[in-house]
Amino acid sequence: MRVSAAPSADRVTLEQLTEDPYTVYDRLRVIGPVVWAPQLDRFLVTGLDDCRFVEANEDLFEIEQEDSPLKRAMGEVMLSKNEPEHGVERAAVNPALRPKVIAEVWRAHFEANAARVLKRFRRLGPGADLNADFALPYAAMNLAAVVGLPDVPWTAVQRWSLAFIAEVANVQGDPRVSEANDIANAEADAAIDQRIAELAGSADPSMISMMLRAGLPPDLVRANAKLAISGGVNEPQHVLTSGVHALSRHPDQLASVRAGEYTFAQVFDEVVRWMPPIHTLMRQARVDVELNGVMVPAGSLVWILLGAANRDPRHFEQPDRFMVSRTRKPHLAFGSGPHICAGSWAARSSIAEVAWPLLYDELPGLAPVDDDARFHGFFFRGLPGLPVTWNSESDK
Ligand code: HEM
Repeated sequence: MRVSAAPSADRVTLEQLTEDPYTVYDRLRVIGPVVWAPQLDRFLVTGLDDCRFVEANEDLFEIEQEDSPLKRAMGEVMLSKNEPEHGVERAAVNPALRPKVIAEVWRAHFEANAARVLKRFRRLGPGADLNADFALPYAAMNLAAVVGLPDVPWTAVQRWSLAFIAEVANVQGDPRVSEANDIANAEADAAIDQRIAELAGSADPSMISMMLRAGLPPDLVRANAKLAISGGVNEPQHVLTSGVHALSRHPDQLASVRAGEYTFAQVFDEVVRWMPPIHTLMRQARVDVELNGVMVPAGSLVWILLGAANRDPRHFEQPDRFMVSRTRKPHLAFGSGPHICAGSWAARSSIAEVAWPLLYDELPGLAPVDDDARFHGFFFRGLPGLPVTWNSESDK
């Protein structure tokens, strides 16, 4: 039996975290900063400083796990590796995703994709679902470009992404989920291999091309391209939609942004703090570690609760409130440490510099049709849909 000095949160379940994680986080904070959750067979860490400590200290908490769900879903991805292997692969993709490259290369793709998707969205007219009909195709098209699969239809990118994510979350081992994941892997591998062949002797600024240029072997190029597909579609999609939802609930803040008092970049920071699309990262204790006064025995699984850290009352005043006027402070929506998100600049540019300004300029009065949108999910959290309306006189 696992013995630990950690206080126990006996009743915390995955269902509760999926439905209403923030209520669970409040309960956990009262119990202690590091809590043992027997029903999840994991330690849960809620404080921003403790979460950051776990991520920063790979010698104590490793990312490699015996049965890594990431490896199961996509192969030998960098996000499943410790240093030094991780660093080699990360250095290979970074040149495709630096702010300068985003500004000089990818932003033009984002603008073209946004214009294309907006055209179709307008045709659907008021009542169209911002999440499904704008944010999703837009995020998938952007990702296809950045990864280096410009000829793959966005619907395929989306399908693969969902299949990979479902397998990562498939803790129950549902064989249908695994089967869909196998199909997605076969299709994505074939598309990536074709692109690798096309790129022979030439180069472009995409992630695939940069990985080839850095000398990564094809199996790692494939795995890491699939990692980006799994992590680069639904997160930007959810942030884009969550932002419109949040601003509609705070019309005064939207007005301040439209008046130029605050920027969409500030909106982006607050949206990802307030409602990060990823709520947990997994680590495993390498040795017996004392974390904030609690003994975490070697081999224990630990969940870093990003959603809780981003509302840590010791770091954020009135943490549950959405406030674009907040002074910018570090949060954990993109993680921290060696594995901090590689695509954060791409996401920021595509949403804050391109999509939101375009939507609010082109669809005057943009707002949800009704007020009953409800967030869902724990591993990945967002609004399942957001039907919106706007003054469509401007479309005629
Ligand atoms: C708002 C959108 C996004 C959010 C909130 C997000 C969040 C995250 C988080 C939390 C991690 C794990 C960090 C850690 O373990 O410390 C991560 C890793 C990663 N993300 Fe993102 N992500 C987003 C968009 C993207 C996009 C658009 C791409 C690709 C273009 C991308 C590519 C990656 C990659 C490759 C990793 C693995 C990094 C590594 O292991 O070194 N992400 N992301």
